[in-house]
Parts: sequence; C-alpha cells; structure tokens
Amino acid sequence: MLSGSKQSPERESFGSKFGILAAAIGSAVGLGNIWKFPYVTGQNGGGAFLIIYLLFVLLLGVPVMISEFSIGRRGKRNVFGSFKSLAPGTPWYLVGIMGVVAAFVILSFYSAVAGWTLEYVVRSVENSFSAHTAEELGSAFQNFISHPLRPILWQLLFMFFTAYIVAGGVKKGIERYNKFLMPILLLFLIILAIRSATLPDGGAGLEFLFKPDFGKVTGRTILFAMGQAFFSLSLGMGTLITYASYFKKEENLGRTALNVSLADTFIAILAGVVIFPAVFAFNIEPSAGPSLVFITLPEIFSQMPLGNIFGLIFFLLLAVAALTSTVSVLEVVVAYFAEELNISRVKATVVAALAISMLGVLASLSFGPIAHVKLFGKVIFDLLDYLAANILLPLGGLCIVLFIGYYLKRSAVYDEVSSGKLFKAAYFPVFIFIIRFIAPLAIAAILVYSVFFGSLG
Ligand code: TRP
Repeated sequence: MLSGSKQSPERESFGSKFGILAAAIGSAVGLGNIWKFPYVTGQNGGGAFLIIYLLFVLLLGVPVMISEFSIGRRGKRNVFGSFKSLAPGTPWYLVGIMGVVAAFVILSFYSAVAGWTLEYVVRSVENSFSAHTAEELGSAFQNFISHPLRPILWQLLFMFFTAYIVAGGVKKGIERYNKFLMPILLLFLIILAIRSATLPDGGAGLEFLFKPDFGKVTGRTILFAMGQAFFSLSLGMGTLITYASYFKKEENLGRTALNVSLADTFIAILAGVVIFPAVFAFNIEPSAGPSLVFITLPEIFSQMPLGNIFGLIFFLLLAVAALTSTVSVLEVVVAYFAEELNISRVKATVVAALAISMLGVLASLSFGPIAHVKLFGKVIFDLLDYLAANILLPLGGLCIVLFIGYYLKRSAVYDEVSSGKLFKAAYFPVFIFIIRFIAPLAIAAILVYSVFFGSLG
C-alpha cells in the first residue's frame, strides 16, 4: 500500500482495481471541485469559462494524466526517483523537485480552506446559519477568517489528520472510508443541486453557468481554466506519478485516466449547479472569490428543513473529500523524503508536515493580521494559490508531456500505455500527437502569454 516500507525491492501495490480508482478519485475530488471551481468560474464569467475548462480537461487533462501514470508505473518510485530511474544522468529529476515544491505551496493554502470546513461543521451543529441574510453570513465568514487564531487551530488540526494518515498508510486509514463516503457526498450534492435549482430565480444561476458569453473571454479566462483543470485533476506535480508507482502492470492506464477525469468533472459541474442558482437567488456576488461557497452553502442550508443537520453532514463530507486530497499531496513529499533521503516514513511525515504548516500559517494569517502584505497586488494566500495552479502545475505538466513525447522511446510509452500489449490502446496515435504537438504548444503559449501580457490580475 501507500505505506510501503521505504526500500522493498518488490514495491507494494494497490490491493484492487477499485482501490486504485478510489485513491485517484479521492485525490482529484476535493476542495478544488466544490470550493474552487465555483468561485473561479464566478470570477471568470460563467458559461464560457466552463466550456474552455472542459476543453482543457479533455485535450490536456486526460493525456497528461496518462503520462503521469506511465512515468510513475514505469519509474516505480516517488516523483523525483521515478525521473532519476527513467532518465539517469540527466536533469529531468528537477521536474520532481519542482513537484515537491508545488506540494508545499498547495498544501499550505489548501489546509487553510480545509480548516474552514471544520469550523463550518461546528457552526452547523450550533445551528448558526438559520434566519441570517447572505450579508450577515458573509460578515460572519469574514470575521472568522480574519481571526488571528481560530482558523490556524483548525488548519493545524487538519494537517495533523493528514499527517496521521500518511504516516500510517493510506489503505488502513482512508481508502476504506473513501469507498462509501464519496458516494454519500455525491448523493448530498444531488439533493442540494435540486434544492438550489428550484429556488426562486435559480434559473438565472443555471443560465450563468451553462450559457456561454464568449465576449467575456480574455487571456485571463484561458489561463485560469487551464490552471483549474490541472489543479482539479491533481496534475502537474507528481501526485499521480507517485500513486501510479503503486499500480500493478495489469491496470489500464487510459481507462483509469478517463474515469477519474469524468468523475472529477461531473462533481465540479454538480457543485456549480448547487452554488450558482443560490448565488443568484440570494443576491450574492458571483465573483466573491474564496468566500463564495462559505456564504452560499449556509444560505441554502438555512432554507431547508433540518438544514443544520444537513449542513453538518455536508461539511463533514467535504472535510473528508479534502482529506483524501491533502493525503495525496503530502504523500508526494513524504515518499520523496523517505526514499531519497533515506529516513523513516514517520520521520519524513513529521518533518514535511511541520514545514508545510509554517507556510500554511502565513496563508491563514493573510486574511487577518497580515492582510496588508501584498505582492503583485495579492495577499499571500492568493499568491500561493496563483503560483501553484497557474504557474507550477502547468510548468510541471509541460515538462511531463515533453518527457513522454520526446525523451522516452515511443515503444516504451506504448508498452506502458498498453500494459505490455495487454490492451490495444487504439487511441495511442492520437495520444502521442497531442502529447508531442498540441499539449506543449498550448501550455507554453498560455504561460508565455500570461507572463508577458500580465494576466496576473
Ligand atoms: N485535486 C484536488 C482538488 O481538487 C487537490 C489536489 C490533490 C491537487 N492533489 C493535487 C492539486 C496535486 C494539484 C496537484 O481538491
């Protein structure tokens, strides 16, 4: 399992096909779908953003995911080690280092938001949403995140849970729960979507989400759509390289990548269907940013019978979804520390979690005491988020497609994608074409554009 002893010659692998799918979907589905997707869509104009996002998922996301799976299963080590073993004596291992850096950056702000979900579990228990206007819920949220201590305590608690699971191994810890908690989350999202879409004025929200207005598309829209695709699918930093190093040879990489991507995208759209009708019904600003779902969801709960119980379960499930994602991010760092620096898994986990928590505290504080500290007009939290999703992950993705497209031999790639000719993988020529020509050009063009034309806004 993921808790593999650090240097067993026979590397441990996932127990079952379902275990693989559950772990990969567990990594992909998280706050990226339910918290980030709605707010980024809201800030970038709605429908047109959604369409561009879907294009990125299909054209870049799925092929990059297959590439990461191939590198990991063939390299059989952590992200750094996999590049070292597939490309000895070359600087490709730097991609692995960048992945470890990206893991630090992502976990630091992600754990802050994960902490917020815990606060909202408690607030549901206290029944503190009912009979409040969106405005009141908005200021309650602002008061909470600007508090100098409370968000940090939740964040550290969440980091502790993450570290605990990673130290002990994913199979015993989380996979077991993942299998039945994810379907319940899905069920809850469907119920919430129905509640939200049938609110008076809810139709305007659906129109916002599904009716594209291409007049609103700018360079920024495209950059954020690409960043969101990488972020939501857990691509570009080696999470899926690390996970695939535990895959068995019989696993069909193409099918797994497609299933994970479809499931992830479905959940994101469903979250949009939950959020936007309510946003319009309650007159919330679609471009409110990171606070969007933490204002909108409580509003929905306050309009439902037994809303507080519903809220309680929902925020708990959201916390679990976040946990299966943070585990997959921390695993990248821990696998690297344990295997390359030759320290025990537990020690690696403690060191990594402590270091990340320090950066994480800064991210949390940037909504309160250090809100005035800005770079490029962004507070630390936004800066880390932007740096990860819009720069580090696409850059990592670019390196990964170049590695598969130009460094590895085509026959080796085919051997991996077809599991040693066990599967036909009839899509292979299309895959290689995208990986060699379309993906690198698209990613590079968007990155260059955003650097030179400053869509840092
Ligand atoms: N995809 C997760 C989400 O949507 C977050 C995540 C987990 C992630 N592992 C990752 C993002 C690796 C980027 C890279 O919540």
